[in-house]
Formats: sequence, structure tokens, C-alpha cells
Amino acid sequence: MLSALCADPVSRRRFLTISARSLLLAAGAALAPLRRLFAAPVRPTMRFVRQIVTADNKTERVILWHADVSDPGARLIWRQAGKRSERSLIPVVTAFSDDDHPIFLYTVRFAGMKPGEFYEYRVESGGFSTGWFLMQSDNGTSFKAIIASDSQCAGNYDTWRRMARSAAQKNPDAELWLLLGDLVDNGEDHHQWYSWFDALDPIGANAALAPVMGNHEVYGRDWQPRIPYAYLNYFDVPGNRSARFPRYYYSFDYGPVHFAVLNTQWGELERLQKGLLNEQRDWLRADMAAARRPWKIVLMHKDILEYDEGRPVLHPVGKSLMPLFDELKIDVVMDGHVHAYRRRFPLRNGNIDPSGTLYICDGYAGDQQFKTLRHLWDEVRGPQPEPPIYMTLAATEKQLDFTACRESGDIIDKFSRYR
Ligand SMILES: [Fe+2]
Ligand SMILES: [Fe+2]
Repeated sequence: MLSALCADPVSRRRFLTISARSLLLAAGAALAPLRRLFAAPVRPTMRFVRQIVTADNKTERVILWHADVSDPGARLIWRQAGKRSERSLIPVVTAFSDDDHPIFLYTVRFAGMKPGEFYEYRVESGGFSTGWFLMQSDNGTSFKAIIASDSQCAGNYDTWRRMARSAAQKNPDAELWLLLGDLVDNGEDHHQWYSWFDALDPIGANAALAPVMGNHEVYGRDWQPRIPYAYLNYFDVPGNRSARFPRYYYSFDYGPVHFAVLNTQWGELERLQKGLLNEQRDWLRADMAAARRPWKIVLMHKDILEYDEGRPVLHPVGKSLMPLFDELKIDVVMDGHVHAYRRRFPLRNGNIDPSGTLYICDGYAGDQQFKTLRHLWDEVRGPQPEPPIYMTLAATEKQLDFTACRESGDIIDKFSRYR
């Protein structure tokens, strides 16, 4: 069935995208034969298979998974979509322990992809194998992404699970997930990480994840800041050549966009590791100077405003970074942290200016609702009280189309930026 559909490259692409992403979640009886390709459950010893973005997603992708044991015989098996010929790659296995919970992390750097191609892969260990997952390389010109922030939950992660699955089902062509921080409520609690990853299983195996570190990733079980070991080990994000802050911030190209992922936790981390803000300032200037894609987007966790009692005021993050975003002519900044959906007017030098940077605060995708306030920069405010939301971004060289949606898929805001 797959090879017949693959005869036409256009229909093959659409078929594969829709099949792998949406039908993994709810395959109908008529499509049951496809389950052998995409829907087999991951064995308990091989958990949370996921793709992580690399600096150049046209050619390279990182694949990671957890396991309870170290198995030198573990392999990643891959093939071009629709082809029979299979090849294997040997993962790097790393022992990792946090929260008194030892595991093994398996990492494969999948290099040599062709732009805009589809690949299938599975992982096997100890005589067991997962089902086939889909991997799509960046075509360099367009993509669709799902964006979610503050997926942290108080108890179980049911809200995040419903949000993630609804977003994936309604956007089966989304090949990239931008996760804007506070993924979990407590960055040391391995039960929360398991719940978070489980909610994304197998979505994260079939799409590339681009995580952002939030302040809750930095909290230990005592709710004090600590080195965020779990986050840093669970997401093998692109390197930044920093000796002090590797994996804390990074950048990558996807389609027509150069994304810079900043880390706004310099306040929490100051007692542990100094210099995060200044180091990122220098890095961002050099990074954006080297960027060659038409659009420049910054992803970060903390919003430019804070909603203390009384009235919203400029957050130290806004004070520190907005002048730099003006200088570098960043097109769009996306953040979260205040658990409110806000689309600001474009801003330059602190003033509303149509040629300025568009600031979008992405609301929350978990179950932690906060009270928020109005600000004169708000062009669109989320419904009150703020519901959990996710966003989508469809990008081409000429246009960025955003939507903000409730879990049901109902759109609460829709807007575009044009070049
Ligand atoms: Fe949060
Ligand atoms: Fe936060």
C-alpha cells in the first residue's frame, strides 16, 4: 500500500505526513495496515524516542531515547520512506542519574539527509523493536510548526497530553515543535519528566523538537535553582561553543527561518554560574550576523513584561534584550512564562512601530492558570480567564502565518507577517 502511494512524489509526501503524525494518534480501521509502519508501541525499556533539531535540519537530526539498561547491541535502523533497503546506526550510550533515578540515554546523530526528504526509522534493543517512525528533513523553504509554552502541570500531565495530541491531530503536517520553556513544573522530578515525555509519545518521535529552557527546568526538588541536569541531558540541542553554558542556548535554521533560542534564567543561575546574559548578548550578535535565512525569530521563556500586583511593567528580560532585538532587526520574538496569550503591537525603541519587532507571548499549554493584566502594547489579548492554548506557524520565504488555538482547535487569534 505504501509503495503504491509513493509512486507520485507529491501524494507520497502528503500521505506520509498525514499518516505518520495524525494516524499514529487515532488510526481508523480502514487504515489498520499502516499501523505496522507507524503505530507499534515503544517497549518499556526503550522510552520516549524523540527527534531534536540540529543547526542544519536539511541534512542532520539528533535522535534520543531513554532505556533502563545499557545495551551495546542497540541499533537505530533507517530507510528512505517507501524503500526496502535498511541501514543501521550505533547509538552513543550514556549513563545518567538525577533525582536518584539512574537511566541510560541513547543518542544517534543522523547525518547526510537530503533536503525535503522523508525517512523512516525504528530503534531496537535486546531483541525488541519499536515501530517505524517518520523523519522529515527541512526542505529549506517552508514548514509548519506547533508552538507550546508552559506545559507544566500541578499533578498529572493530562492537560498537556490532551493539548499535545489535539495539536498533533489537527496539524498532521507540522514537522517541528517549538517548546518555549517550563516544560515541567519541577526540573528535578523525574516523574514529571516521564509524564511530559509520555504525553508527547510518539509525537516527538515523528517531528523535530526545539526546546527552550524555562525557570522551572532550573528548580530542584527543594524549589531552589540548581544546574538543570535533566533538561541538559534530555535534549541534545545544537552546540553554542560556550564553555560555561553549553546547551543553555543555541540556534538553528529551519525552512526560511533562522531561530535563536535564548536562555532567560540568568537571575536564577547567577549564584551557580555567572555571566549568562552578557555571554548571550555577544553570541546573539555574532549568530545573527551569520544568519542567512530570510526571517529571524527569537524563542525564549520569560516575557518582556511582568504582571506584578498593580500594573504590568517591563521585566528585566525586556530591559536587557529589547534594545538588542532592535539593533539586530529581529522579526519576531516568541516567549511565555506569564501564562497569558498576548500579541503585542510591533515595537521599536519601546514605541509602537509597524517596522518593529513583533512580540508574541504564547500563553500556557498545561494546567497552571495565572491572573494577568492589560498593557498598552497589547494588540490582542487571550480570552479571559485565559484558557490553555497552542500556536501554529506556517512559514514561507515571503510570509509567516500564525494561529493561536484552544485545545478544541478553535482559533482565538490569527495573523501574518509579510516580507
Ligand atoms: Fe510557567
Ligand atoms: Fe516560567
